[in-house]
Amino acid sequence: MDLKGKNALITGAGKGIGRAIALGLAKAGVRVGLVSRSSGDLEQLASTISSQYDTRAIYATADVSKRNEAEAAYNQIKHDLGPLDILINNAGIASFGTVTEMPPDEWERMIQVNLFGTYHMTYYALPDMIKQNHGSIINIASTAGERGFATGSAYCASKFAVLGFTESVLQEVRKHNIRVTALTPSTVNTELAVNAGLKIGEEHRMLQPEDVAELALAALQLPDRVFVKTAGIWTTNPQ
Ligand SMILES: NC(=O)c1ccc[n+]([C@@H]2O[C@H](COP(=O)([O-])OP(=O)(O)OC[C@H]3O[C@@H](n4cnc5c(N)ncnc54)[C@H](OP(=O)(O)O)[C@@H]3O)[C@@H](O)[C@H]2O)c1
Repeated sequence: MDLKGKNALITGAGKGIGRAIALGLAKAGVRVGLVSRSSGDLEQLASTISSQYDTRAIYATADVSKRNEAEAAYNQIKHDLGPLDILINNAGIASFGTVTEMPPDEWERMIQVNLFGTYHMTYYALPDMIKQNHGSIINIASTAGERGFATGSAYCASKFAVLGFTESVLQEVRKHNIRVTALTPSTVNTELAVNAGLKIGEEHRMLQPEDVAELALAALQLPDRVFVKTAGIWTTNPQ
């Protein structure tokens, strides 16, 4: 699919992987709607994009775990950019601890942001995509959605759920020419990884946010008839 002139909404666009995907899409000529909670990050990114690339960048602040905020952000981006061709559900949080040590509020929050955030934006975007009979949704899952590990019960549960959600929605909407893909990167060099204590090994051997962005763009640029269910990337760095 030629990406030039398409409209995309990217959640968690202020930092890390979401920011890299937004920049990658903008470079390819996509008009981008940026969503996260911090307006400062989004404002700065929108102005970087507008000054560097021949495309439009707008933003809306929202906590995607909150249905009304996700809906308002979706409607604002749609109103300003026009109907969406691409939705990137990237916003996510991570922390680790045994199931009895982790405070229940923290456990629940991970599910709310990582799973419900993905569900909310998909819920609002899909009717319009179905109406226009095309669209691409990319959900940023993780290798933590494919294998569990000690201290990962909340994060892994949220990402396993994102993979189940992705495959089920894909089966529902592929007849409408809507592609739904989950990316499952291993550890990526972002604030999330550093804050969660995941950043191990030599930095230059770690996946970088731009690597995930390239994978997302590659999946989006495949011919419309090609549906990628999941795509994972690793480095030589042992996890
Ligand atoms: N880094 C890794 O090792 C790794 C590996 C595999 C998968 N992933 C996944 O990749 C995605 C992005 O992670 P990252 O490493 O790029 O994280 P990051 O650098 O911490 O960036 C996360 C972005 O999401 C936004 N965000 C967080 N909670 C939000 C909420 N409730 N509503 C809206 N926006 C929210 C943050 O902005 P605000 O705080 O301003 O809202 C920020 O812009 C996540 O889904 C993560 O699980 C990460």
